[in-house]
Amino acid sequence: MSDQKRGMHGIWAGRWTFILAATGSAVGLGNLWKFPYITGENGGGAFVLVYLACILLAGMPVMLAEVLLGRKKRMSPINTMAAMTDETGAPGFFRGIGWMGALSGFFILSFYSVIAGWALLYVGKIASGAMVGVDADGSGAAFGAMLADPVGLTIWHTLFMFLTGAVIARGVNKGLEASLKVLMPVLFILMLILFGYSLTTPGFMQGFHFLFDFDFSKLTTESIVVALGHSFFTLSLGMGAIMAYGAYMPGKQSLGRTIIWVGALDTIVALVAGMIIFAIVFSNGLEPSSGPGLMFVSLPIAFGSMPGGIFFGTVFFILVSIAALSSALSIAEPAVAWAVEKGISRLVSTIVIFGVAWFIGLGSVLSFNDWANYQAFVFVSEMDLVSGAEDKIHTAFHLFANVDVLKAEYVNTAAVSYHIVGKTFFDSLDFLTSNIMLPLGGLCIAIFVGWFMSSDMVKKEVNTKNEALFTVWRFVLRFVSPVAILLIFINGLGLL
Ligand code: PHE
Repeated sequence: MSDQKRGMHGIWAGRWTFILAATGSAVGLGNLWKFPYITGENGGGAFVLVYLACILLAGMPVMLAEVLLGRKKRMSPINTMAAMTDETGAPGFFRGIGWMGALSGFFILSFYSVIAGWALLYVGKIASGAMVGVDADGSGAAFGAMLADPVGLTIWHTLFMFLTGAVIARGVNKGLEASLKVLMPVLFILMLILFGYSLTTPGFMQGFHFLFDFDFSKLTTESIVVALGHSFFTLSLGMGAIMAYGAYMPGKQSLGRTIIWVGALDTIVALVAGMIIFAIVFSNGLEPSSGPGLMFVSLPIAFGSMPGGIFFGTVFFILVSIAALSSALSIAEPAVAWAVEKGISRLVSTIVIFGVAWFIGLGSVLSFNDWANYQAFVFVSEMDLVSGAEDKIHTAFHLFANVDVLKAEYVNTAAVSYHIVGKTFFDSLDFLTSNIMLPLGGLCIAIFVGWFMSSDMVKKEVNTKNEALFTVWRFVLRFVSPVAILLIFINGLGLL
């Protein structure tokens, strides 16, 4: 039975096709939209440094582990982990890695599609010329108006789900492989053009310093947790996406060199996106910490003022949408592949899985408007305006609250001001997946491959001639990655 499932989904045409597909999965909204805004929210440079350390010490080692698991069994992550758990005699709960990954996939796909919908909407917005000559206020207002309209957001979210579903229902080989070969290079070229433009803006150096000056006083426990979570999110790790893609990897090529490409390309795109966006942010007096709208507010200002901006802007948001689509495919693939292995047709699997994710996504749509007040994990802290001291012990905590009601309860006076922060449905899903489920998945994968698979078994799969590098990797995977993830988790618990 299980042998029949092996390899039933198809195989990539070659090593470079895997690199292309995995890079298509890795490079997405995480790089262009999320990395700049969370860097802005977490104070810049020191956050970037921690993020890069997490990529190197946790992300890349786990990526190799995921790919080798996938390629060894050539099945969906759920069945791969089940088979590997049996084969190695590891404790039964390691089977759960596959299931948790599929669940993370539903959650991530649900809000990813909502944000990708914004990108689709911006294609039309820029193409129509409506943003020509727009300033920071105008761009902010346009973004705000978009968020205030749940029906509009739902339409674009639905369209994105439909497009992604249509590609995935056909199987990954036909639609995606061919188109990515053209689209990824175009994305790189457009980013270079934007980078060239950003060099001419007065805020470029300020943005550069913001990204690369490591001011550790700005580093908080939360920002370290976020950096770790993002390193998994941006590399598509901890939920089986890369394991599923590894399952379609041909032959016996060396895995190490292959994945280094993916990690390097992903990191370069994120850093370049950051440099572009912060140059525009500082040139136009925007706030780096302004949150999820950062890319959508800053870039239109650039396109609105540069020669050929309508053309470049339209093409850019088309590419953002495509980068999002190629990532979304890999987010859904683990669940779809599992359903197909159950004997359900690819079309029916896709419809059901995308239908469920679409429905959960409505919660994220409403997070930006009708449900914006309903928040979870709400902390109220008190600032003594006379002494300037912030109350370290939170004044109040609510698991779930209507923030408007709280604001009416805690009225600011001349002596004290209250700070109320919580998480909307969208924030909660993002936090739960990126900062908890993905690192936890990565931790389990590192322990599984590091401690329950024998060195020989692993070496055969990795197929490298570079003994020294293999030894270093295995050491990092066994000791450094798990300890780093655990330490960050334990510290993160202090946030509660
Ligand atoms: N890596 C993708 C991005 O950066 C998102 C993603 C997360 C894809 C998890 C697959 C799995 O946009």
